[in-house]
Parts: sequence; structure tokens; C-alpha cells
Amino acid sequence: MNKDKYSRLFEPGRIGGMELPNRFVVAPMARISADENGVPGALMRDHYAAFAEGGFGLVIAEGTYTDLASSQCFPTQPGIANQAQIDGWRTVTDAVHAKGCHILLQLMHTGALLATNSFGAPPLAPSAVLPEGEKSPRYGGSGPYTVPVELRRDDIEIIIDSHGQAARNAIAAGFDGIEVHNANGYLLDEFLTDYTNLRDDDYGGSLENRMRMPGAVMGAVKSAVGGGVAGVRLSQGKINNFEHQWAGGAGDARAIFTALAEAGADYLHLTTRQAGAEVFGSGRSLAGLARDYSGLPAIACGSLHDADAALGVLKRGEADFVSIAKGAIGDPALPKKIASGEIPLPFQSEMLMPLATLECTNAWRAANMPG
Ligand SMILES: Cc1cc2nc3c(=O)[nH]c(=O)nc-3n(C[C@H](O)[C@H](O)[C@H](O)COP(=O)(O)O)c2cc1C
Repeated sequence: MNKDKYSRLFEPGRIGGMELPNRFVVAPMARISADENGVPGALMRDHYAAFAEGGFGLVIAEGTYTDLASSQCFPTQPGIANQAQIDGWRTVTDAVHAKGCHILLQLMHTGALLATNSFGAPPLAPSAVLPEGEKSPRYGGSGPYTVPVELRRDDIEIIIDSHGQAARNAIAAGFDGIEVHNANGYLLDEFLTDYTNLRDDDYGGSLENRMRMPGAVMGAVKSAVGGGVAGVRLSQGKINNFEHQWAGGAGDARAIFTALAEAGADYLHLTTRQAGAEVFGSGRSLAGLARDYSGLPAIACGSLHDADAALGVLKRGEADFVSIAKGAIGDPALPKKIASGEIPLPFQSEMLMPLATLECTNAWRAANMPG
């Protein structure tokens, strides 16, 4: 019955060649729950399958490292860089597909925001700029970041290629495609951001130059996925600077979105504190501008666990899909609950305490939701 009121959220949609049953997407969420070799196991399989069971049409799996070198951010983060990792992910993609849901993998290079790298690599970044803030204890980090090593041009080429290889590995693992992580202050966002990219070669300086690396990675991923989907996630804010805004406002937004569309993106995924909120006095949200400027489908993220907020974003044409992070941890069956008129269970921050692992969430559930 409720499905009538919220029917826009339950309409099928399309991204590239991927037909989706509805507009509900699980946003990528790092849960540091692979084994120490970055291989996903049964815990991760069941975690992702629960979203499929709960009615989400698309899952974007967590930020995953792309090489056995500098990209890793946390020790038990999953990777997609060797056969064991591919085989581990295959169990996840099979379980999700078995329930009629699609799944993309988010490829992530940590850049300067490195917590712990098991391969002995130092943090690498466009420029040797000390990141603001401190490492997150929920991810096993503590204390300040360190000054990263400035990337040499040949290392930049290696990182572009490793994103392409990781995308091929993800397709071999059964993913429907890739989301490039260009948000939240990690490597690709460090190239885009004026105060973390101080390079004076053609990867730095003008916005066009700062977009060269994100565009090259997008292009490498696009050619690697074949008929699969290749998209990209962007934000203005960062995990260590929530308030950052693009200096050129809507003009920057236009240049960034069109560069990524030209590089081959099939969709743009925008995360903000409150999706749908107006930016740059433009009368549109960031996702709305992405849609307008690129002509691509947009996924909006940020406090959209509320069904009325999610519906409003679609109805106002700010986005084509809504992605949900914390609300999906609170209740992996959120779409089914909205359809049936039940109230989804709320997210509680204790679910990610003391660590953001699946084990901690499961222990919280066992203690607080017996039976
Ligand atoms: C536990 C957790 C892990 C996250 N990990 C990622 C990640 O791997 N990649 C990413 O792009 N964003 C990550 N995010 C950000 C979310 O995808 C999302 O942008 C943010 O939580 C806002 O959405 P919400 O209001 O629905 O929670 C994470 C968020 C949470 C709560």
C-alpha cells in the first residue's frame, strides 16, 4: 500500500547496460572485515547478501584497494589485486546476484589518508602536504597523519594502470562494474583539490590539469570493464575537512562533471551531508548539477534513509537513484520495509563501536536485538 505513495522509488531504472529493479542503492561502506590478506569471507558474503534480500536494487561494495603496494588504507580492508581476493569476492557477487540484485565494486587508492599499509608503502599523494586531522580509531588508526611522498610521473602511470587491472579483476570476480572513488579526500580527490595538489607539471595548477589524473583513471576503468558499468563518486567535503567547497562553485562543478563524462563515466554519484540541498546558490543540488551538466544518471547520497526525503530528491529531478549508507546498516531491509509501510530500524552509532567491523555490528545486534 505504502508502495503507491512511494512508487517513484520502486520504478525500474537503468545505468549504462544495467537494468535495475528500483531506485534504492546501498552506498559504499568500508567495514574492514576481510582477512589479513584482504580476502572477503563468509561474514562479508552474508553482509552484502542481506541488502539484496532486503530489497535494494544495487549494492556498491566498499572502497577496495587496487594493488599490492600503496593503495591500501587499513589492514583488513578487502583488495582486488590477486586471485585469492578475486575468488573471495566471487562468493559475495554470487550471493547478491542470486537474490536479483546488482553489485558494483568501489576502487579506492588511499593517497595521503593512510591508516596502516601492510605492504610497507609510505603514503603517496600529488604533493607532500600534511593532511589535516587524525586517523580514525574506528578503523584501528590513531594519531596524526604523516607527510606523504610526492608521486613521480612514472608512479602516476602505474597507479592509472593498476586501476585498470583492478577493474578487470573485479569483472572476473562477477561484479557488474566499477565505481571509482574520487571523493572524501583520498588520492583522486587529492589531485582534484587545490590545497592538496601543489604540482607544477600538467597534473597540477589549473582545474583542467587537476582533473587529468581522475580522468585518466576513469578512462582506464572504462576500457577495462567491457560491457560493464563504470561510474565515479565525488564529494566536496572530505573525511578530514567536511566543510570544503570547490572554489569556482557551479563553474568548477560543470568542468568536473563534464570531464568525467567525457572520460567515459556511465553515472555520477554525489555524496553530501544532506542530498537535495542547494549548492552555490544555483537552485540545484550537487547531484542535480551533475545530472544537468553531464547528461548522465546521478545517484544522490546523504541522509536519504527517510523515504520522504528520498522521494523528494527523485521527484524534483535532483537524481535518478538514491544511495543510503548508515540507514542501510540500521536496517538492511529498508526498501522492503518502506514498501510494506513498516518503519525501518534506525541506525545507531554504537553499531560501529569500538570498530567499524561487521563483527562489532553483529555483536551489537546479538546484544540489543535478541531473537
Ligand atoms: C561505516 C561507513 C563506511 C564508509 N565507507 C565509505 C567508503 O568505503 N567509500 C565511500 O565513498 N564512502 C564511504 N562512506 C560514506 C557513505 O558512503 C556516505 O557517503 C555517508 O555515510 C552519507 O550517507 P548516509 O547519510 O546515508 O549515511 C562510509 C560511511 C560509513 C558510515
